[in-house]
Amino acid sequence: MTDERVVPMRLQRFLARAGVASRRGSENLMTAGRVRVNGVVVTELGSKVDPLVDVVEVDGRAVHIADEPTYLVLNKPAGYLTTMSDPYGRPCVSSLVPVDEHPGLFPVGRLDMDTTGLLLFTTDGDAAQEMLHPSHHVDKHYVALVTGVPTEGELDVLRAGVVLDDGPCQPAEVELLGTAERGARVGLRIFEGRKHQVKRMLDAIGHPVLELHRDAFGPISDPGLPEGSWRPLTQEEIHSVRSLVNRAAPARSSRA
Ligand code: URA
Repeated sequence: MTDERVVPMRLQRFLARAGVASRRGSENLMTAGRVRVNGVVVTELGSKVDPLVDVVEVDGRAVHIADEPTYLVLNKPAGYLTTMSDPYGRPCVSSLVPVDEHPGLFPVGRLDMDTTGLLLFTTDGDAAQEMLHPSHHVDKHYVALVTGVPTEGELDVLRAGVVLDDGPCQPAEVELLGTAERGARVGLRIFEGRKHQVKRMLDAIGHPVLELHRDAFGPISDPGLPEGSWRPLTQEEIHSVRSLVNRAAPARSSRA
């Protein structure tokens, strides 16, 4: 096997790859003086480390880059916050995924508390940050149960790029899937991830969302995954997720 290490690498990149935090979060840890390299506090954001040689600690605990980052997908039920902990003790997605076996696991983006469906998790903070970056346009597909039955003219407004209070949306792929007892089901593929975006888009055309489910995140979909269950991504899925953001294989360390 070829040695895919990038040596030396920026400390914030090392921390993100080790799953400590996103790259920006890692920079905050550094500037807060919480990161030591070989026993010395490092706050300089340009600092580099050799993952095989240097001893990196955050708050006094050694951190390492695992051989392979973990990627998994959860079918999130309604009633869970997309966060790893909540000061008010509300149910969090962290209780549904194997955080003990995979420290540093965190969700890629978020679903509202009442939204169900696919939520990706990874220990690779770098990849997560890049997947969420607007320039990468990772597409997400949703099925919304809405009040009333939207006309094709109303759906065309979403296809053209509806204007919301924080600016115009990119054109969405939208189709009426059928009528339902309480309204209609609409399928939407969007290429951004703004807060409450799908609900706001459908509000804007006069058809508020009653229920929202995400059935695809980029190349990942799994209609057979039971609600509340997770599974690791296959090697093929990891490859397609990583190629979405044009990332090479992760750095490797013999000190996993
Ligand atoms: N759009 C929303 O409005 N809510 C979600 O949870 C996801 C996308």
